[in-house]
Amino acid sequence: MSSNKNKNNLMDKIVSLCKRRGFIFPSSEIYGGLTSCWDYGPLGAELKRNLKDFWWKAMTRSRNDIEGLDAAILMHPQVWHTSGHVAEFNDPMIDCKTCKARFREDKLEESQCGRKPSKKPTECGGELTEARQFNLMFKTFMGPVEDSSSVIYMRPETAQGIYVNFLNVKNSSRQKIPFGIAQIGKAFRNEITPGNFTFRTREFEQMEMQFFVHPSEDEKWFEYWREERWKWYEELGINMAKLRWHEHGPDELAHYAKSAYDVEYEYPFGWQELEGVHNRTDFDLGRHMKATKKDLRYQDDRYKEKFIPYIIETSAGCDRTLLTLLVDGYDEVEIKGEIRVFMRLSAKVAPIKAAVLPLVKKEGMPEYAIKVHEELKKKFKLFYDESGAIGRRYARMDEAGCPFCITIDGDTLIDNTMTVRDRDSMEQTRMTVEEIEDFLDKKIND
Ligand code: GAP
Repeated sequence: MSSNKNKNNLMDKIVSLCKRRGFIFPSSEIYGGLTSCWDYGPLGAELKRNLKDFWWKAMTRSRNDIEGLDAAILMHPQVWHTSGHVAEFNDPMIDCKTCKARFREDKLEESQCGRKPSKKPTECGGELTEARQFNLMFKTFMGPVEDSSSVIYMRPETAQGIYVNFLNVKNSSRQKIPFGIAQIGKAFRNEITPGNFTFRTREFEQMEMQFFVHPSEDEKWFEYWREERWKWYEELGINMAKLRWHEHGPDELAHYAKSAYDVEYEYPFGWQELEGVHNRTDFDLGRHMKATKKDLRYQDDRYKEKFIPYIIETSAGCDRTLLTLLVDGYDEVEIKGEIRVFMRLSAKVAPIKAAVLPLVKKEGMPEYAIKVHEELKKKFKLFYDESGAIGRRYARMDEAGCPFCITIDGDTLIDNTMTVRDRDSMEQTRMTVEEIEDFLDKKIND
């Protein structure tokens, strides 16, 4: 079997595990699904919430210099003219005259023929059209009249909500430059070629932070944020050998950026962008200032003159980071002739932190286990399971990414200790319920 086939096979296995265990389901599945749209199931919803909390804590709560924001998805349509998205947020699109499939010109190499997915476009003999510019913003209408005056856009990035609130946040929080504004929220792009499960979708969530600095300090802060974001992935437990930086060349730079680096991850389908760190200069505030005639310049007693702050942006995809956790955590191990699947998620973000399992369904063990579950679930998301052989129950939890299993056995009833099994080392340590509480707290929060 070729390595490529193996790699495709890996994505199939992850998609199937996600469905089986309740991480991610196809959207509107009973209607046949909707291309590129996905729903997060019970485990996926917990994982996503934990991931967002992990980002929010690192980017806002643990710092004095970043404020949070939750701006509306629908914004004044003029915002998108001013930001340059109406004119420039385009991808070059080409069509196959034979099979009518549509491709992004810059992703042609990665695309598959519409009729023969084993072939690349043109390999099947089809002829391609010239490239045309295709704007990626979703449009809809605001209010009861559907004409050009009521056109409104679904935001393609959360960043603009931050820029238009720059003055509001600065004045209400009394932050001084350098400071940042962070936001997590949905963004929409009418992608020409969505795909690779949740990697490129038309509806997705971003975790973005805009850091406002004096123009003379832009490069210093750009480097600072590259380092911070790199450390964040390390703390998240990603295999760092699978991450790298990619610097944007002049032909790749977005219309607003002076310099940009992507954090890339090595997915089964190749190295791809996970997060962008951009030096957006005074482009955004400058444009909004000109369009609105509102003074968005900054001044305090440290500076002689007013200036338009430069912006260093860190822009991560929430769904894409979640997919990265799943790809990175997926592992298969042969145990006693059987292939066992492990989802090695860090305890910090794992949807279920521990399972509480009575060894057998008798001799007072379930009653004891229920009490342990009730006690610990006040602090942690746990799962109680008494059905089936203990090995099967461990296996189910391993696939669900649960880092610890707490087993109540005969000795528990004598000395009040129970085993805590570590999913990755498979080691079992006896602890009391108080010790388990401390142990879980450290593993999740330290
Ligand atoms: N505000 C800057 C900005 O939006 P971007 O590089 O276009 O920059 C930032 O997007 C991040 O958003 C990407 O690194 C990726 O993680 C995520 N993202 C972008 N388009 C996406 C899509 N179609 N599906 C899933 N995630 C996407």
